[in-house]
This record gives sequence, structure tokens and C-alpha cells, in this order.
Amino acid sequence: MADVRTDLFDAGERLDAAALRALQLERLQASLRHAYEHVPFYRQSFDRAGVHPDDCRALADLARFPFTGKADLRENYPYGMFAVDRERVRRVHASSGTTGRPTVVGYTDADLSLWADMVARSLRAAGGRPGDTVHIAYGYGLFTGGLGAHYGAERLGCTVVPASGGMTARQVQLIRDLEPRVIMVTPSYMLTLLDEFERQGVDPRGTSLEVGVFGAEPWTEEMRREIEERFGIDAVDIYGLSEVIGPGVAQECVETKDGLHVWEDHFYPEVVDPFTGEVLPEGEEGELVFTSLTKEAMPVIRYRTRDLTRLLPGTARVFRRMQKVTGRSDDMVILRGVNLFPTQIEEIVLRTPGVAPHFQLRLTREGRLDSLTVRAEARPDAGPEAREAAARAVAAAVKDGIGVSVAVEIVDPETLERSVGKLRRIVDLRSR
Ligand code: DLL
Repeated sequence: MADVRTDLFDAGERLDAAALRALQLERLQASLRHAYEHVPFYRQSFDRAGVHPDDCRALADLARFPFTGKADLRENYPYGMFAVDRERVRRVHASSGTTGRPTVVGYTDADLSLWADMVARSLRAAGGRPGDTVHIAYGYGLFTGGLGAHYGAERLGCTVVPASGGMTARQVQLIRDLEPRVIMVTPSYMLTLLDEFERQGVDPRGTSLEVGVFGAEPWTEEMRREIEERFGIDAVDIYGLSEVIGPGVAQECVETKDGLHVWEDHFYPEVVDPFTGEVLPEGEEGELVFTSLTKEAMPVIRYRTRDLTRLLPGTARVFRRMQKVTGRSDDMVILRGVNLFPTQIEEIVLRTPGVAPHFQLRLTREGRLDSLTVRAEARPDAGPEAREAAARAVAAAVKDGIGVSVAVEIVDPETLERSVGKLRRIVDLRSR
């Protein structure tokens, strides 16, 4: 790990493992107390489970405390999960609320400052430096991506271009004119930008960009390779969720690109069996659960993310890593008894010659049988034979690798819907 710039570390990154665990325990005890004393929901749920903050004497004792889910946040909409007086809440963000009520999250001054610090730390791990120009194409607004990235980049001492999402032609213009070194955007929107560079006849490898910080949706190693090659940049993964703080909960280091270091001096991770809730040992895949250690306005205790991953020991940092997220349990398709994630199809599509990195999954139902059609776009230079070969190759790879038969349609270039932010891969046409 010779090229890790330890001289640039902040105080948290300099802790050794023993000091980190001690700090986590102290903060965990305080966070449990804060939640119990100030949020009626936590008092009731702890009481019902027969646990009290004083029962937490070691980090492992956290497993005795009850989980919190998205439904709990919805039921306490809008302000029921807040642990401070409304006057101390400086900002709110909200999830899109595609299924029912949105959920609202809140931040005190200290929370906003912590968030900026965590995104600054993330950007630095990604290879960003003070003085860099950072183009932010995450959406600004209630979504945490834009403003979260914005204040973090300012905190690091960068020049921020707050482009937000959309107006793709103008994004390309801004990148050419303002010469950012770093771009922060969803990986799917980066592909939309790639199309636009090509449409304008501009070489995407010829820009000033050197680093891309991509997150807010799952993406694969194959997608990393595609983006790195097509743009000639380093592509690293940033993870986060509104309920925990927003982007900047975990970040991949550019030196190692080996999964995301969880900033666990502030956000304590566990991986649990999604069905039994049992805490799984390091290295085993399950559902990621977070407990905030220092948040004021909206502490979360054992919040179930539904994201599937595994925890691994630290490498470039003392903090544990999480492997790239495979998918959300909500995005898992069960096809004739076989579990399938969009990321598995992404790996296959991106490895197949003649196919562009744009695809969609259509779920239909004939009688009682669900079927899945992978619709992928042909590369512009792929003729009818290449397209047929590609369709056969994708179908065979899905059958061999995942163990289920799917239909594959190779469609004309530029026919599938493009992302302007978070992309939904699955189009569910099954009548309920
Ligand atoms: O997506 C925060 C964010 C913004 C992260 C910008 C990174 C960059 P939410 O809208 O609350 O917050 O959605 C959170 O998005 O539970 C995951 O399912 C997914 N997600 C976020 N980052 C990643 C990632 C933001 N790097 C939900 N890989 C999370 C895979 C991700 N999934």
C-alpha cells in the first residue's frame, strides 16, 4: 500500500484499530441514549424489546437492539423521528417516495458539517484535491446527491460547478469549457453524457476529467472498465443513503479500487441475514444495516438499508470495507425460483461484443409463469449477424451463469430510455 497518501489523512483516518473500536463504543452508547431520550419511537421500540441504552457495554451488544425500517420512518412522517427541536433543524431532504409517502430526513448545523467532512474525505479518497474543479451532475433538490456532493467538495477546497442533472448538451459544453478534473454523477447518467460527447463529435478521452465519483445506484466492475476506457479516467464508487446522511457513508479509494471503506467512525455497519436478522460474520453476504454514531437531528439505530453486500477488513484505511453493492433486496427478480439481480445482467451485457452498455429488463407474465426479456442496444457498428450472435451470447451467458432462460432482444442504437439520474432497470409489466 506504498502509494496511499497517509499524510493527507484526517484525524479519524489516523486512528489505529483499537482506538477506532473504543471511539465507536463510546459514540454508540451516546447515540443509543440520544435516540432513546429524544425520540418516542426509539423509546417504545427499545422498551418493547426489553433493552435499555445501558445494556450496551460492548459493540456486539448492539445486536440486542431492535431494527428500524423504512416503514417506521413513513409512519413517523414527517418529523416524528427527529431528536432535536425543530428550530435546530437547518435543512431537510426527502426520498422520492415512489411507493407511498416520502420519508423526510433532517440535519442540524453539526450534522451538515459532519456530512460535508465525510464527502470531503470521500472525494480525497477518490483522488480529489483542494483546488480541483468538480463538476456535480447529481440532481440538486430534495435528493441528497447534489447538495451533499456540493458542500463536501467546497469543504475540501474545490471549485464547484453545480450543474445538477439534465440538459445533457449543456453538461458537455460546461465540461469542455470549465475543465473540471473531477465529475460526480450516477454511472448511468455518465453513459448518457458519453452518448452526447459522441453525438457532438467530441472525443470523451480528450477532456480535462481524470476522476469520476459514481454512486446512488448499483454498478459493476464491467461498467467501471467501460467508463474508464471510454473516458480515460479513474472511476470509483461512492455509497450513501438519505436516512443515514446521504452520499459519503462509504467510499472506494482510488489507489486500491477494492470496495468501499465505510466511514465507520460515524456510521456503524452490520451485515445481517435478511430473513432471520441474525448478524453475519465478516465476509458473508447479507443486508447492510447502519447505526449513526454522531448524528444529532435524526439518529438511526440499526436501520435496514435493503442493500446487499459483505463486510471485509480494511486495506487503504483502518475502516472496514463493504463490497460493491450487488443490488437491493427490492430489485431482486425471482424467476422460476431463481434469484436474479440487474447487476448480474449488467456484467453479461457489458462483456458481450456488439452490444452497447444500455439495457432494460422487462418482466411479463404469461399464465402463471413470469418471463424476463433483456432488451439491450446494439453498438452502432453491429450489423444483423452481429446482433443475432449477441442475442444468443447473452441468452447463453444468463442460462449458464445464473441458471435461468430469458428472452433477449437486441434493439437499435439510441432506442432505450436514457438516465438523467438514478436509473430504474426493471420495467414490470406483470398485471397484478
Ligand atoms: O442515493 C445518496 C447518494 C447520492 C449516494 C449520490 C451516492 C451518490 P438515496 O436516494 O436515499 O440516497 O438512495 C439510497 O441508493 O440504499 C442504495 O440502494 C442506492 N445506492 C446509493 N449509492 C450506491 C452505490 C442516495 N454506490 C440508495 N452502489 C441506497 C449501489 C447505491 N447502490
